Amino acid sequence: MIRSRMIGTGSYLPERVMTNADLENMVETTDEWIRSRTGIRERRIAADDETTSDMAAEAAKRAIQHAGISPRKIDLIVLATATPDMAFPSTACIVQHRIGIAGVAAFDISAACSGFLYAIGIADQFLRNQSAKTALVIGAEKYSKIMDWTDRRTCVLFGDGAGAVLLHGEKGDRGILSTHLHADGSYADMLMVARNGSKNPITRELIKTEADYLVMRGNELFKVAVKTLEEAVLEALRANGMACHEVDLLIPHQANMRIIAATAKRLKISMDKVVINLDRYGNTSAASIPIALDEAVKENRVHPGDRLLFESFGGGLTWASAMVRW
Ligand code: ACO
Repeated sequence: MIRSRMIGTGSYLPERVMTNADLENMVETTDEWIRSRTGIRERRIAADDETTSDMAAEAAKRAIQHAGISPRKIDLIVLATATPDMAFPSTACIVQHRIGIAGVAAFDISAACSGFLYAIGIADQFLRNQSAKTALVIGAEKYSKIMDWTDRRTCVLFGDGAGAVLLHGEKGDRGILSTHLHADGSYADMLMVARNGSKNPITRELIKTEADYLVMRGNELFKVAVKTLEEAVLEALRANGMACHEVDLLIPHQANMRIIAATAKRLKISMDKVVINLDRYGNTSAASIPIALDEAVKENRVHPGDRLLFESFGGGLTWASAMVRW
């Protein structure tokens, strides 16, 4: 049986750090409010001329280097983003050119914060049915350009960055054991950016209104997130005949420390088995899981045979899980 093994990881965070103290000077908020409600202390903000594809290409190069393979081995690129460089061409095509592997399939997928696990689920299908042998899966975001920097309810939450994973289809026990992808479009307006699509195209005058920025009903979303994430985790455990205590590392989407802690508590997974970096990066949407995975790998928190459980929740609404034997 062919499985998709994770053979390399990489990540990229922009240099500029924006602290909660910086935000205190921009909107009516406090470091105390942000830390106690979200767990976030600081986030990274991309330079004006630094694009989603720039960050994605850098994370991809680092993953390729970590895997120690030639880029020419890659025959599929799936890139998850809600903040592509432009409507088209896809950010995946731009990254493909930067890596210099013209000809291989490359496309973007859109599932907001669940984007990376959706991309993993899609790439896994290609590798299992042997339509591809080595897939580059990327999550990359530049949310700083879709934030309303006068709206304290949202601008304190998000950050920019990119993460990448190389998957290789091979026989054996190691690799992706299961993926589960879900969505419920009836909640679409809980978290959205209404403009920049064909429904509400930008005008010639380019006047910015609320529709250009991310809006979120955070309080309602919080409750749906905790419930849904628990179901997502239980579904992954059931599919693999596993109990909670058999998970070696939980790598959740980094949206809110209280959501992560509540899910871990309900599942009786101790916090030392949970990878957290949102204190330093905030919510980087589709990039958050691959960045967290890369950090865990580089910190030697992941060992061959370990069972890693990934879970995410985001705009759509979408939610997803993946179970991996490292
Ligand atoms: N500083 C100070 N006060 C604030 C701030 C701020 N930055 N933001 C909101 N407040 C105020 C509100 O105005 C409100 O004041 P009021 O009672 O006078 O009206 C009060 O704080 C409480 O607001 P709530 O929204 O109820 O705060 P809550 O405790 O729910 O925390 C938060 C808000 C952090 C957004 C939380 O609801 C959350 O994390 N929700 C889920 C987010 C999520 O999971 N998103 C999905 C992934 S993102 C993606 O897919 C792109």
